[in-house]
Amino acid sequence: MKMKGETPYTIAWDAENNCIVYIDQTLLPGRYEVARCRTVDELAGAIRRLAIRGAPALGIAGAMGVALAAVRSGERDPVRFRRDLHRAAEILRSTRPTAVNLGWGIDRVLGAADAAGSVEAAKEAAVREAGAVAGEDEVTCRRIGAFGAELLPERCTVLTHCNAGALACRCWGTALGVVRSAVEAGKDVRVIACETRPLNQGSRLTCWELAQDGIDVTLITDSAAAYLMRKGVIDAVIVGADRITRDAVFNKIGTYMHAISARHHGIPFYVAAPVSTFDPARSEVDVVVEERDRGELARCGDRMLAPDGASVLNYAFDATPLDLVDAIVTDVGVLRPPYAESFRLIEGKR
Ligand code: MRU
Repeated sequence: MKMKGETPYTIAWDAENNCIVYIDQTLLPGRYEVARCRTVDELAGAIRRLAIRGAPALGIAGAMGVALAAVRSGERDPVRFRRDLHRAAEILRSTRPTAVNLGWGIDRVLGAADAAGSVEAAKEAAVREAGAVAGEDEVTCRRIGAFGAELLPERCTVLTHCNAGALACRCWGTALGVVRSAVEAGKDVRVIACETRPLNQGSRLTCWELAQDGIDVTLITDSAAAYLMRKGVIDAVIVGADRITRDAVFNKIGTYMHAISARHHGIPFYVAAPVSTFDPARSEVDVVVEERDRGELARCGDRMLAPDGASVLNYAFDATPLDLVDAIVTDVGVLRPPYAESFRLIEGKR
């Protein structure tokens, strides 16, 4: 994605000012603005309002958030410094419960800081490790892209849901990384983007970043997907993931219905995600699915979309059982059923 302004990345570390610089995703596509977080509370707020979002970007945000807490700390006593760092980590961890990358990024930097011998060394280690988490994401997405591009025909139309693109990572993307890599390899790929109610990550973000890159993208309502499959317009579905347990893929609400529709119509359903998104020790029932405010469904600005008397159930994610998934494209290769066997490929690589 061709980023404008100060950063070529969705989220980056500003070493000069010891802060996090990010694209405020709540403003797109109307406004492109780069913002900064100077405190952990500011970062937690940016994550909660989805200014920074998408599982891999949340992993980077978690990692950089711990680094931010470290470099901004005035504490000289190692025990108190460590306690403050862990407190900051818990604030960040509590912002969004479903995407496993958030905790993964936090724990990587906490581990690096805890292993250091002094407060100063811990600060340096935290910034270094956060930089490593961010840098690896680009390599990871490129690998996912290369593996996934092989799965797509020379000429095809793929349906995607939510935004699993450059904006959800540091750059390139997972599901959209596959599209970008296929286009780079000379394939003629068109994308159908589901709008992704209620926060419209599909219409606002996926359409925006693909249009920036000149990749053919068409917006549909979420509820049009099955009909387009029936009409034979869709060759494959490809989505990202927030967490992959041993039995299910958690991703944006609506993903499950696309998987069911795809299976019904004989269309391959692919998931693209880094190894850091896997959580094979857990199963579907162990995962907390984020529920968000009623206002996201019941209002549009000043306009009421539902009466006050109606209850609202606003799940941010759903779980797609693995038996509906034809392949999971990771940075270490493509996993196919039976997943109990192919999950061995990711063992020890998280
Ligand atoms: O609520 P969001 O916008 O953070 O949800 C994001 C998704 O569901 C993405 O599909 C997922 O994180 C994968 S991003 C590569």
